[in-house]
Amino acid sequence: MKRTLITSALPYANGYLHLGHCAGAYLPADIYARYLRLKGEEVLYVCGSDEHGVAITIAAEKEKVSPREIIDKYHEANKEAFEKFGMSFDIYSRTSLPGHHDTAREFFRDFREKGYLVDLEEEQFYDEDANMFLPDRYVEGTCPNCGYDHARGDQCDNCGAYYDQLKLKNPLSLVSGKSPVVRRTSHWYMRFDMFQSFLESYIESHAGDWKDNVLQQSRSWLKQGLNERAITRDLNWGVMIDDIPNIPPGKAKGKVLYVWFEAVLGYISATKELINILAEQGKGSSDSWKKWWQDPETRYIAFIGKDNIVFHTLIFPAMLHGKGEGYILPDNVPANEFLNLEGQKFSKSRNWSIDLRDFIADFPEPTANDSLRYTLAMNLPETKDSDFTWKDFQARTNNELAAIFGNFVNRTLQFAYKNFGKVPDLPKSSKWLTLFWKNLISYFESSGISDNELLGRVPEELKKIFNDNDINLIYAVWKGNREAGAFYERFRFRDGVSETMNIARAANKYFNDEEPWNSIKTDPEKAEKTIYICCQLVRSLAVLFAPVTPHASAKIFDTLGIEYLTGDSPKDDKSEDYWLQTALPADLEASKLKEPELLFAKIEDETVSVQQAKLGVKIEEKVKDVQKLISIEDFSGIHLRTAKVLKAEKVHKSKKLLKLLVDTGEGERQIIAGIAQHYEPEQLTGKTVIILANLQPAKLMGLDSYGMLLAASDKDGKLSILTTDTEDMPPGAEIH
Ligand code: MF3
Ligand code: ZN
Repeated sequence: MKRTLITSALPYANGYLHLGHCAGAYLPADIYARYLRLKGEEVLYVCGSDEHGVAITIAAEKEKVSPREIIDKYHEANKEAFEKFGMSFDIYSRTSLPGHHDTAREFFRDFREKGYLVDLEEEQFYDEDANMFLPDRYVEGTCPNCGYDHARGDQCDNCGAYYDQLKLKNPLSLVSGKSPVVRRTSHWYMRFDMFQSFLESYIESHAGDWKDNVLQQSRSWLKQGLNERAITRDLNWGVMIDDIPNIPPGKAKGKVLYVWFEAVLGYISATKELINILAEQGKGSSDSWKKWWQDPETRYIAFIGKDNIVFHTLIFPAMLHGKGEGYILPDNVPANEFLNLEGQKFSKSRNWSIDLRDFIADFPEPTANDSLRYTLAMNLPETKDSDFTWKDFQARTNNELAAIFGNFVNRTLQFAYKNFGKVPDLPKSSKWLTLFWKNLISYFESSGISDNELLGRVPEELKKIFNDNDINLIYAVWKGNREAGAFYERFRFRDGVSETMNIARAANKYFNDEEPWNSIKTDPEKAEKTIYICCQLVRSLAVLFAPVTPHASAKIFDTLGIEYLTGDSPKDDKSEDYWLQTALPADLEASKLKEPELLFAKIEDETVSVQQAKLGVKIEEKVKDVQKLISIEDFSGIHLRTAKVLKAEKVHKSKKLLKLLVDTGEGERQIIAGIAQHYEPEQLTGKTVIILANLQPAKLMGLDSYGMLLAASDKDGKLSILTTDTEDMPPGAEIH
């Protein structure tokens, strides 16, 4: 049995995940993991939060809390969002766990002993106001390579260059906003130059099977020649190294491992953690993590976004190789490009983003996550940057998921439920159907003729039981599952999912061509056979769609009352290839049909506009106004009017209330307003104010109030009543 280790880049626990992350390193890996599990392969899919480094400390400073609070908050939130999104991780760990710190320190200790590390004194930017060195993203300046003026300390987001921080022009500390000075500090450096030729042959050994972008970036780094790189930082948040043997006292004080050096090891620590948990439950021994990391029979696939390439193709492999002990290297690193949103880059600060958790809150139906998964899968940035739009989300959901896959499932199961109350039994005239079906598949598999000729030469005895529609359909699922699988194996997820949808198209066509709604009246046996075959296809499609729409698939299995096959973890030990078996009839006899429900809710135009309107809106506005959008009709039900205050007086025994008599243009009325702590009665008399005129009357301290005075109040509770800009607005003027 094949064994595959799958990792997705560990997201920083410094913010909520957005759809760009999902499309980059998570959804494709999940599709892949589910697909392999359905193939009966042994899979371990590992991920977790990256909880150290400057990404975290900066977030903590921004939110004015400790790094610990930041990672706890975002780790939990991201873990939960991933679960609802249907990610089938075997473990979602975190790098703040002691077990991870031990693993990382062990690599550091080992590299020091082997002479892969040197400690060097270097000059670095120092912020004299904040009394700290400024690692990585704590400084910004002009890129020495392209002149971009918001380049980070270690890397330019504009041109992608990595450089020594001191080369940055016009540096500014992001802590104090001032220019830093240069001071000496000592760090440990990893001699990546010692791995140059090893890495060159590793990369070239994959010249035929890795994506171009991955090869190109790796080669261009190798071409420049690898240098030693600092693997420690002056920070007090991260993996400390002060208890490593033989380090002079004080030398490691205030230093932690560079986040990239330890984060990649998080994949290993997470595996160990899971294996330990299982061992405690009596499932396997605690050192069986080695079969995932140190057995040459294991294939390792590392899913990432394009900004992580060299860390996974050069840095991490050098570390694994340097550690010895038979560590395996990534067999493939299928890095994706970036996903854009409505034609622009994702940007949290401009609120041009869709957080996964917001999506889930707005679309709580589990199968709505499938709509999102499907839309993202059909737009994965596999070879170039791609775009997510709400219109496309609507079209994919309504015209493809609902109109093709969902429609076929629904019409079949409705038909079966209404006419037979179950998956129909095969009529006598078709009692050999399942056997002949298997023969038809054997014929497809072994005939040795080209696919084009296959259909024309189906053996006559099979044609006695299958008509052309049957044969075309069975051919479509046989061929489709193989092609979709072959695409998945080459990390072409868009194509794999499209192939799957084509099988659903063929199934719909079959239903149309067979016209069971007619045959149920004229030839009931034929209708039974048609619906039996359709039910088989429903089940096959549930399996084949499971990698991309696991929630919908689960719902189908539930309706049919049969075993769930969604490629989830934990999975059983069966090593059957359920994927290829989808071309064959399954045992549906035990099936208990429940009343079918619609799989995918249609997305209305209004939903699209509401979502589009949220983009680019400031956060506060977003929360207060946009989440509860009202229409102009709703607003017209609110009667705001000007009114002139004729009289104002204190309410006896109340600190807060004033009793007002106002002229509304149509008459006089009494309003009790809670503004006594902000206005003296005299200040109000003669003023034109704004009232809510059609508020239902209320009693306050025993006094009747007919309407409400509008006022603005700030967050400290300071209050100011609304009036009109010109003084001469008559009472009763409409506000609109
Ligand atoms: N946290 C990094 C990012 O979000 C990815 C780390 S991948 C790992 O870009 F391998 F280092 F874990
Ligand atoms: Zn640049």
